[in-house]
Amino acid sequence: MATRQLIDADEYIAKINATENLEHLAHLHVELFSKSGYFKRLLANIADLPIDERKQFAKSVNELKSLLLNVFEVRQENLKNLEIEYKMQQDRLDLSLPVESSGLGALHPLTVVIEQLVAIFGHIGFQVATSNDIETDWFNFTALNVHENHPARQDHDTFYLNKVDEHGKRYLLRTHTSNTQIHAIKQHKQELYEKGYLKIIAPGRTYRNDSDATHSPMFHQLEGLYVAKKSQINIPLLNSILNYFCREFFHIADNNLRLRSSYFPFTAPSYEVDIRCDKRNNQLILGSGDQWLEILGAGVVHPNVLINCELDPDKYAALAFGMGVERLLMLKYGFADLRAFFKADLRWLKAYNLPTHRLPSIGAGVD
Ligand code: PHE
Repeated sequence: MATRQLIDADEYIAKINATENLEHLAHLHVELFSKSGYFKRLLANIADLPIDERKQFAKSVNELKSLLLNVFEVRQENLKNLEIEYKMQQDRLDLSLPVESSGLGALHPLTVVIEQLVAIFGHIGFQVATSNDIETDWFNFTALNVHENHPARQDHDTFYLNKVDEHGKRYLLRTHTSNTQIHAIKQHKQELYEKGYLKIIAPGRTYRNDSDATHSPMFHQLEGLYVAKKSQINIPLLNSILNYFCREFFHIADNNLRLRSSYFPFTAPSYEVDIRCDKRNNQLILGSGDQWLEILGAGVVHPNVLINCELDPDKYAALAFGMGVERLLMLKYGFADLRAFFKADLRWLKAYNLPTHRLPSIGAGVD
């Protein structure tokens, strides 16, 4: 025979309110409200009752149930708050304790130099553009006027992925940041038409299958691109931008650069740019002497590249330059072995805690 005796509400209210923690409360919840709990059992055999008593009985059971459920919820809330309070007491921070040295880290020299470069070019209106490290053959080569059988494809020692794009060409790790020239022109064409020019720098990772003291399979480049109306693009402008850059970055006087004729498929004319240096007494001094060190590649963007970006080469022209960031870093601060950059040795990092360039800010202003 099933029980029809209702439990005493007051007794259970007291029981619920006497629980000491959420676990106890959960036990009580099971006892009363679970599938095999008191209320389920109570109602399970309601059919055994005479018909005229059933309704009244069910009503009393439900009233009792919702009363106890209410009490239960309030208790649960209280216990939760009590537990939080208890935890806060336990975890209390003693703010009067002396601070342990956290051993402040330092920015990686590459990060510092990229920040310097962004600030220097930002000062003359170049905006930062980015694109992906994994690139299609078209953006890395074809659009840049590097044809199918061009020797430059072999020269770059490209890392290829197995996956192919919609033209059946394997994806690759970009071999230079020049791919960003194409992305930037395509993306910012409207801005170019509106303002009449586009000034972009693109710092980023690049990859070639090459590794020794001065080459790493992953290295960084900074690309510069200056698109404008055709009449405004000329070599003296390129020369003055590069002189400005060297003045700011290497702190050398103007006219210590040499534009030496060279070849890149995506520029015509093309130049390799050398910086004047002195290598006497086992020391490298930039900006004086009668020797030259190559620091970057540059030129006037080839009309085919503009056509590939659907830009009219009769109306627009562009200057481009590209430099190896590790190389700049080695020249400026005298690092000898590039491999140290990628060893994540904290002692090395701390030893070269380089100054960051002053970035324009609301507080400090623009200098
Ligand atoms: N992409 C060239 C390289 O990796 C550098 C370059 C960039 C040359 C832009 C000319 C213009 O060597």
